[in-house]
Amino acid sequence: MKKLNVGLIGCGFMGRTHSNASRRVNNFFDLEYRPVLRAVCDIDPARAQAFAAKWGYETIETDWRKLIARKDIDLVDITLPNNMHREVAVAAAKAGLRVTWPLRTAPLASELQTAVAARAKGAASGSPTSSPWKGFWRL
Ligand SMILES: NC(=O)c1ccc[n+]([C@@H]2O[C@H](COP(=O)([O-])OP(=O)(O)OC[C@H]3O[C@@H](n4cnc5c(N)ncnc54)[C@H](O)[C@@H]3O)[C@@H](O)[C@H]2O)c1
Repeated sequence: MKKLNVGLIGCGFMGRTHSNASRRVNNFFDLEYRPVLRAVCDIDPARAQAFAAKWGYETIETDWRKLIARKDIDLVDITLPNNMHREVAVAAAKAGLRVTWPLRTAPLASELQTAVAARAKGAASGSPTSSPWKGFWRL
């Protein structure tokens, strides 16, 4: 099974739900990929450290730009406040990474499709065990 290296940004409530889903997605769907919880990022370093220890992320960052610039990340899982989704998602897609974010800014999907689809490897809204992800993980 292929590895998909996950970098999650935002260690709040939705960070927990997405991390839980990443850990369980191979029970939920039959997939080619297995998520590897490679890095987690939060503006609050103590929160990021505690989150990494609890959920099994290997490393932490406190600057989302540094996480996106890393060479060992395939998927950026954005669980930040709404007003940050667009900037981070577009930057990650431009860097050629897969991107996901919570459902509340779903219109972002069409923006990503039109603006940066040529470089993004995939984009989906919702947690890793929600239905759009079944196709997403096969990309
Ligand atoms: N809470 C819910 O029930 C729920 C349900 C569906 C969707 N959502 C959506 O999920 C998103 C996140 O919501 P939440 O409830 O997890 O919020 P939250 O406030 O619990 O978590 C947000 C996290 O982002 C971090 N953060 C803020 N600015 C940052 C920055 N510049 N760099 C790195 N980290 C930063 C915060 O420190 C915090 O840990 C929102 O878009 C929200 O609308 C929430």
